[in-house]
Amino acid sequence: MRILSGIQPSGTLHLGNYFGMMRPAIELQDQGDAYYFIANYHSMTTLFDPAERVRNSRDVALDFLACGLDPKRTVFFLQSDVPEVAELTWILGTVTPMGLLERCHSFKDKVAKGISFNFGLFAYPVLMAADILLYDSNVVPVGQDQKQHVEVTRDIATKFNEQYGQTFVVPEPRIRAETAKVPGLDGEKMSKSYGNTIEIFGDEKAIKKKIMSIKMDSRTPQEPKPDADQNIAIQLLKLVSPPEVGKDFEERLRAGGMGYGDLKKALFEHYWNHFAEARARRAELVANPDYVAQVLAEGSSRAREVASKVLSRARRASGLC
Ligand code: ADP
Ligand code: TRP
Repeated sequence: MRILSGIQPSGTLHLGNYFGMMRPAIELQDQGDAYYFIANYHSMTTLFDPAERVRNSRDVALDFLACGLDPKRTVFFLQSDVPEVAELTWILGTVTPMGLLERCHSFKDKVAKGISFNFGLFAYPVLMAADILLYDSNVVPVGQDQKQHVEVTRDIATKFNEQYGQTFVVPEPRIRAETAKVPGLDGEKMSKSYGNTIEIFGDEKAIKKKIMSIKMDSRTPQEPKPDADQNIAIQLLKLVSPPEVGKDFEERLRAGGMGYGDLKKALFEHYWNHFAEARARRAELVANPDYVAQVLAEGSSRAREVASKVLSRARRASGLC
């Protein structure tokens, strides 16, 4: 089984990225042939500062390796180190109906927010399809918000196969129900663009302040809270603590008698401990930039071997050679 996923270097990674995509991807390393990459071409659709792109790309590499991506088992690379993907994007674009892209929520949401959109932002799902199809991927671990893009990829692959003969593997999204939509500080989906994130490797004081600011209601500590499972801090606590701890806090909140301040303090402590090991590993990696560069260089050469074969197959099928 080939597993593939990517993440954009468009900001600092947060708990939504970690529980929605990174951790499932890391756990899947044992179950097949994994290909994970830093989607720096994608980041060009919304981020225009080159130095920031370089810095964010390096940070994603550090975060992923610190969180347990094992470069011996997994091919880990920078998207732009495999430029074959740009040619495949063009080829796939010619079998992609406009309507398919016009229906994409992520594009529509960005337009609705007033982001000035460029051709790249509109064509984004075609590049994503090229990422996935270029490696004969079977399974794509992502959060709920990327499901539609994987469905678009399936449509494009099917369309190409019908037009030019069986060429591409039709992939499947893999979404974990329990972490499909991690809530942010305000209860909305945690997202860089909503300013409601808790970073994976944040500064201790700043994160504590953020966690203490999580939006709560005005009920007194004594009041029983039958909706305790809906509480944002409880939902996050369940992610970063052993199951019995999350359950215990949920029951105490439901029964009444526990203040929100104590709950948030506990959440901070569990968050901090949850990432302690990864934080130490990340510090070691920061001190060893040559190692990280070497991992990505090896990853891209392994990725290119597969990519060039699949691209040749698509070129032959469509009469380009
Ligand atoms: P953001 O919304 O912060 O810009 P991205 O769109 O870059 O995040 O998402 C990167 C990956 O993390 C995707 O696979 C996405 O589905 C996942 N992801 C992002 N936010 C969440 C969330 N709040 N809950 C679950 N998964 C998420
Ligand atoms: N669009 C994805 C995101 O914003 C990143 C991505 C690019 C991706 N190419 C991909 C994810 C291929 C999975 C497979 O999160």
